[in-house]
Amino acid sequence: LAGLFRPGCLAGLSVLVSAGPTREAIDPVRFLSNRSSGKMGYAVARAAAAAGARVTLVSGPTALSPPAVAEFVAVESAADMYQAVMARAASHDIYIGTAAVADYAPEYAAAGKIKKTAGELTLTLRKTRDILAAVAALPDKPYTVGFAAETDDLEGYARAKLAAKNLDMVAANWVGEGKAFEQDDNALEVFWPGGRRTLPTASKAVLAGRLIDLIAERYGARAA
Ligand code: CTP
Ligand code: CA
Repeated sequence: LAGLFRPGCLAGLSVLVSAGPTREAIDPVRFLSNRSSGKMGYAVARAAAAAGARVTLVSGPTALSPPAVAEFVAVESAADMYQAVMARAASHDIYIGTAAVADYAPEYAAAGKIKKTAGELTLTLRKTRDILAAVAALPDKPYTVGFAAETDDLEGYARAKLAAKNLDMVAANWVGEGKAFEQDDNALEVFWPGGRRTLPTASKAVLAGRLIDLIAERYGARAA
């Protein structure tokens, strides 16, 4: 795989990856979602498998074909993703949360299609549970890597997420104005307690290989 510097660097390890957007139902035909294509997450899952890991991929709805991984779990909502990830997290060595999980979901989904009326439609949204923070709070937590999509103060927000969610690493990228979402190229600023590394602009496949390489390096440093 192009961009993977050390083939076999995750041999013997298991990696759980979450990817894609989630869909939060408003009624049987409508949902709230976001601009994630799932490309980065699928590339990360592929790179981890190419590095020798046993890979589980939990994915929200995407237009991509599932990569060749040990287990592929298709989910829809943030609540589904929470269940699928939490059922598997403790049995993996590494968790990489690339999913663009909806932060808010309608407080309930209408059983039937909501009909158009003359007036306005008001939705009450409730916060979803933070999957990444829940994984990192497990007593036997895996090495936990989060993503952070930001439009400003990348390092400030990334380091705040690292500390607040008790993560081992955060991979941050700029979003907005044609950056990252739905694009084939991306760049990452990676932070961990006491360190950082820039992974410059490259295809998502190459970038994912470099990220996996860095995760293997930091995982090894932690275990040593
Ligand atoms: N995340 C998650 N569960 C949620 C929301 C986010 O697991 N309900 C994870 C994402 O998969 C990502 C990380 O949290 O790895 C950061 O997501 P991001 O949207 O950048 O940060 P939030 O903590 O949701 O904060 P905000 O959206 O306000 O920036
Ligand atoms: Ca969010």
